[in-house]
Amino acid sequence: MAPVLSVQGLGHRYGGAPVLRGVSFDVMPGEVVAVIGPSGAGKTTLFRATTALLRPEEGHVEVAGRDLVRLGGNELRQARREIGLIFQHYNLVRRLSAIDNVLVGRLAHLPTWRVLARRPGAEERARARECLDRVGLADRADARADTLSGGQQQRVAIARALAQSSRLVLADEPVASLDPASATGVLATLRAVATEHDIAVVCSLHQVELVAGFAHRVIGLRSGQMVLDVPSAEFAPEDRATVYDPLDSGRPPATNLSVAGPSPSPSSP
Ligand SMILES: Nc1ncnc2c1ncn2[C@@H]1O[C@H](COP(=O)(O)OP(=O)(O)OP(=O)(O)O)[C@@H](O)[C@H]1O
Ligand SMILES: [Mg+2]
Repeated sequence: MAPVLSVQGLGHRYGGAPVLRGVSFDVMPGEVVAVIGPSGAGKTTLFRATTALLRPEEGHVEVAGRDLVRLGGNELRQARREIGLIFQHYNLVRRLSAIDNVLVGRLAHLPTWRVLARRPGAEERARARECLDRVGLADRADARADTLSGGQQQRVAIARALAQSSRLVLADEPVASLDPASATGVLATLRAVATEHDIAVVCSLHQVELVAGFAHRVIGLRSGQMVLDVPSAEFAPEDRATVYDPLDSGRPPATNLSVAGPSPSPSSP
């Protein structure tokens, strides 16, 4: 099986300072990967490079076999259609209804005004409604996005990715602004949808305690480098320290890194 996302040797600097260094990993269809790391570790930069919003100085990003770093214009727009995006600050069109936001995703290649001007047909609306139903929001389909709670807005974003037939979802701190119960609910929905539809998910989180119940695998970034790549079932307190502990604690920075294939079991004390 080919990976949906393959990141190889990604490197980038801002004003001379390295923010990503040699970051490499693959994500398979249906695989849910959590990305953790302290503030400033490079998580958002990694996401921006993965959508080619930022052109990384080094490395490649292949989405469904196409190298985004080398594409431009129409080809890049086509390739980006494979990617669903979810952000911390709900990236919906606020004045549109939930269902219209989903429809905008389904026709991601058209500007919003054209999507609405072309009056989506009954079949398209039915499909969008199904996607909202899947995330538990069938009854709020006609509510304006800005009248929905944060958790509901993130569910609309998941429905939009589903309607868009995204093969990859990138979610940058999608639950950072939510209360614990809504956060768990949104992540559970995201995981279930990913598993059912073989969508690869890469999701950054600050709430490390949510990783185990959500992701299949956890990647740790620290100062722009991958210092961890383990199945989340094996994610141990030492791993947390590898990612977050102050560097002057005497601990070597990379202890449990396996870029490809199954990761070694962490040694428990
Ligand atoms: N546009 C930019 N210009 C210059 N430096 C930037 C820019 N964007 C990010 N940086 C720097 O790059 C580093 C990584 O930032 P990034 O936003 O990727 O971190 P992050 O892991 O997402 O942090 P957080 O958890 O706070 O969201 C930081 O040192 C940041 O100051
Ligand atoms: Mg960030």
